[in-house]
Amino acid sequence: MPPLRQRAAEPLDLKKPKDKMKALWALMALLLLPPETLSARVSRTRRELAPGLHERGIQDAGGSYCERHEACCRGRNDGCTVPYLDTICYCDLFCNRTVSDCCPDFWEYCLGIEPPFPVQRVCVRNGNRFPTGATYRDNCNLCTCYANGHWNCEDHACLINADLVDAVNRGNYGWRASNYSQFWGMTLEEGIHHRLGTTKPPTSVMNMNELQMNMEANEVLPRHFNAADKWSGMIHEPLDQGNCAGSWAFSTAAVASDRISIHSMGHMTPALSPQNLLSCNTRHQQGCNGGRVDGAWWYLRRRGVVTDECYPFMHQEKEGALPAPPCMMQSRSTGRGKRQATDRCPNPRSHSNEIYQSTPAYRLSSDEKEIMKELMENGPVQAIMEVHEDFFMYRSGIYQHTPVAAWKPENYRRHGTHSVKITGWGEEHSPDGSDQKYWIAANSWGTDWGEHGYFRIARGANECDIETFVVGVWGRVGMEDMHHHYKK
Ligand SMILES: *[C@@H]1O[C@H](CO)[C@@H](O)[C@H](O)[C@H]1NC(C)=O
Ligand SMILES: *[C@@H]1O[C@H](CO)[C@@H](O)[C@H](O)[C@H]1NC(C)=O
Repeated sequence: MPPLRQRAAEPLDLKKPKDKMKALWALMALLLLPPETLSARVSRTRRELAPGLHERGIQDAGGSYCERHEACCRGRNDGCTVPYLDTICYCDLFCNRTVSDCCPDFWEYCLGIEPPFPVQRVCVRNGNRFPTGATYRDNCNLCTCYANGHWNCEDHACLINADLVDAVNRGNYGWRASNYSQFWGMTLEEGIHHRLGTTKPPTSVMNMNELQMNMEANEVLPRHFNAADKWSGMIHEPLDQGNCAGSWAFSTAAVASDRISIHSMGHMTPALSPQNLLSCNTRHQQGCNGGRVDGAWWYLRRRGVVTDECYPFMHQEKEGALPAPPCMMQSRSTGRGKRQATDRCPNPRSHSNEIYQSTPAYRLSSDEKEIMKELMENGPVQAIMEVHEDFFMYRSGIYQHTPVAAWKPENYRRHGTHSVKITGWGEEHSPDGSDQKYWIAANSWGTDWGEHGYFRIARGANECDIETFVVGVWGRVGMEDMHHHYKK
């Protein structure tokens, strides 16, 4: 009694009457066997149990497999295989069963006939062939190989757009654009979502406590000013918020750090912790999903924060994937308006958990001169601004929002609210002979971005609303602080 799946020299052809009889006999013999024999007989090999390549969704990628390996085996030969994508395919006659695991070129090369399955077209990229379903990323878009042999790519506007970089650099806009690896692969929508993070204060706050400054109409201010020159060693480096939409906390910590350093005359130069604000200033604030600067200033005044060294930034790489880290640091009053931390620093290396506070923040008028005067007398100020698509690609020069995306589809033009630290101003002679006035401001996208983390932006024209809501603050520095820190 031959096994049912005999190593037949020739496949059965059920159309031939002789072969039909053979098959019938085999079936009857099978039915007449005692059950235990049957189970022994039909104990099947892994190959037989495995679904055919087509059933596993693997599509023929075309190309030569049996041919390249000169493999064509008669009958059943489980060793008659060649590599195929990330698995193997067969070049023996047994592969030609209902669920085929034949190599794509088996029929044509070994049998000399048309394949029973339509051979899928392949997609080509950089001279390589890819099967249907293969993918690659083109900047922020995923491209997939379709069965028709064409790549099909998503159509998102990317944060870095080579066309826009070129258009800015070809145009005479007064600033230059470039590619940033930290933005490469992100969509514009993601950039607006994860790289900004300041909520516009409501009108009630916008209209509130504007500082009246006594400025003489003809008061002359210098043409150039940089806080880093006047208060050397007290102006802190631009921060890096990563993909945390928490510029409300970063710009507030940045301005407060500089101001406390200046107002203590350099006796203390704390780099305050944005994370302390992100994690603990949670009333009406959304941490890395945005927040308001007036809320941050309220917290700095009433609760205070520790240094960044004590409470370091916890980068969240996958945005929104993790819950926000809980608050690890509270403060309690020690009388006379001073506060102390209730916990150790949330990292083993730092022991100084001193709390720093500010006085109430005040809003400046939108007058260019008043902002300049405040900056020059008291230190860097905080400004809210609208960030447009081209700003992400800023490299150097005096930024002005350009119309380079005007001819692109609407989803290429996006803007969102951000906050930054203004540290100075200046004027530059343009090639056309006019003087171009600018602000110097620190962003929070790391020191690789822009001019070492800073950017310059047109001054006196409320460019991107940067002069609309400007805030100053006093560090809360008592004489005993000065003394205390002086002694150290
Ligand atoms: C093998 O493939 C050929 C071509 O599709 C087909 O005619 C034939 O019936 C197949 N044989 C078996 C045993 O499946
Ligand atoms: C931009 O930078 C990324 C990452 O560094 C690089 O892969 C890409 O090719 C660059 N794109 C352009 C248009 O220069």
